[in-house]
Amino acid sequence: MWKSFLRNKKASENEAVQLDEKRLPQHIAIIMDGNGRWAQKRGLPRTAGHKKGVDALRNIVRYASSIHIQYLTVYAFSTENWKRPQDEVDFLMRLFSHYLDSEVEEMHKNNVRLRFIGAVEELSHLLQQKIKAAEQKTCHNTGLNLNVAVNYGGRAEILRAAKKLVLLSKEQQQAMSEAQFSEFFYTASQPDIDLLLRTGGDERISNFLLWQAAYAELSFVEKCWPSFTEEDLASVLMDYANRDRRFGGLK
Ligand code: FPP
Repeated sequence: MWKSFLRNKKASENEAVQLDEKRLPQHIAIIMDGNGRWAQKRGLPRTAGHKKGVDALRNIVRYASSIHIQYLTVYAFSTENWKRPQDEVDFLMRLFSHYLDSEVEEMHKNNVRLRFIGAVEELSHLLQQKIKAAEQKTCHNTGLNLNVAVNYGGRAEILRAAKKLVLLSKEQQQAMSEAQFSEFFYTASQPDIDLLLRTGGDERISNFLLWQAAYAELSFVEKCWPSFTEEDLASVLMDYANRDRRFGGLK
């Protein structure tokens, strides 16, 4: 089944991006980078870039949902982001709180299941309550699974899984398979990452989903996150569809 996506409704009415549903990734991860630079280039405070980043995220979630992507994991705040100026950290925390107030209803209507992954227990009580309420409200939804990574670090997640492993008996530890070990991760019962995308021009994975992205296809785009559109994601998906994934084997 082919999905049609109009690249630019105004400029080129006939130009459609064709997406083959069978060649779409099951699980996309996005490092939403470049908010600060987007704002600074426009003479705005960095926080304006984060605000605009929420609009970009809303559009991408709607689009991913509409083309039946099953899992989308976005990096919103890393364990290292606490080192930013206090004002910016406070702004981001308020933004996440506001996001939960304003976006959950629409996501719920669109059958999106929302989860927050990371050391959520270190966030403010109010934010934790809102996260819990949003997760509970959407927990029976069967459309797009959206994971928002907040206070997330890939190494910390592996260490957390290892700490669960050592609580088991010696026999259980020795019998543990990779698939079973994956169940100790925030993304338990979700498929591995097929496509890891980073906006903003840098080419690194910055401690994101280190275990789950072992065989991910990588895609780096120059555009900063606030300018990233559905059309941009469609072209990344077209490129992904032409990749030859061998998982270490031969074709
Ligand atoms: C990286 O850009 C972005 C972040 C640290 C914050 C990501 C947050 C959003 C996209 C807001 C929307 C998210 C939710 C869940 C409401 P940067 O600040 O590092 O940009 P720079 O590299 O240009 O400095």
